[in-house]
Amino acid sequence: MVELGVNIDHVATLRQARKTYEPDPVWAAAEAELGGADGITVHLREDRRHINDRDVRLLRQTVQCKLNLEMSLTPEIIAIAAEVAPDQATLVPERREEVTTEGGLDLLANADRVHDALTGLKAAGAFVSAFIDPEEAQIDAAQDQGFDAVELHTGEYANAKGDEVAMQLHRLERAGERVRERGMRLHAGHGLNYRNVIAVARIPLMAELNIGHAIVSRAMFVGLREAVREMKRVLDAATSARDVRWVESLGERAVPKVLDYGQRKGGNRNV
Ligand code: PXP
Repeated sequence: MVELGVNIDHVATLRQARKTYEPDPVWAAAEAELGGADGITVHLREDRRHINDRDVRLLRQTVQCKLNLEMSLTPEIIAIAAEVAPDQATLVPERREEVTTEGGLDLLANADRVHDALTGLKAAGAFVSAFIDPEEAQIDAAQDQGFDAVELHTGEYANAKGDEVAMQLHRLERAGERVRERGMRLHAGHGLNYRNVIAVARIPLMAELNIGHAIVSRAMFVGLREAVREMKRVLDAATSARDVRWVESLGERAVPKVLDYGQRKGGNRNV
């Protein structure tokens, strides 16, 4: 079964809109766990625009499932990560002017900085993943540089329209195969929602999906715990061998049916 990492940066973004104490991402992490999250993902950005040092330190003490810390190659952030010792560290590119992470980390162009970051994180015992575009050269570089996992950037798939969707999905499938051949754990994320996640969850040996925006948006209407439960039901149904053909046959109508199915089965068995 594919693991769900819930990205709670958006909760901190709302807090920072008023520079106040609520909503607290630490509470959000607890709610996400109660909804069945397998991991909590946060990005400590250089400009601290959402998650801050206090959040990361408290989350390290309170999160009971996997804590996945996303970070750029900046030595200051790597040093904090090495001290906090998250269960997993994911290296991502970062530009101050971007709204969210755009594109994957270029492991070839940043080889020296990647080496330094990996050395620091591995010395602290972290399991280290690289957020990269689904390209052969980047995947090969990830293995050569010593990464434990690769998170494939699904943004282009998520933004694709018409025939482009199948093309981008195929690109992710081919990349997934390469990651597995290279012996790394397969993760994916960015722009995934309750509909487009189904095909990505079904890529063979997909181990972890990191999802933020869609879940936090849904939480506005049903609460975070329920929004996470719903995503877990979609993932369960999409990846359970018995239901694969059934989900496939539903196509676009899959999501309401899958959710209904989860409820009929008595809810999420992971809760
Ligand atoms: N994975 C990585 C590496 C990210 O940077 C992000 C965005 O913060 C996500 C996953 C989650 O993306 P989204 O919020 O679009 O679900």
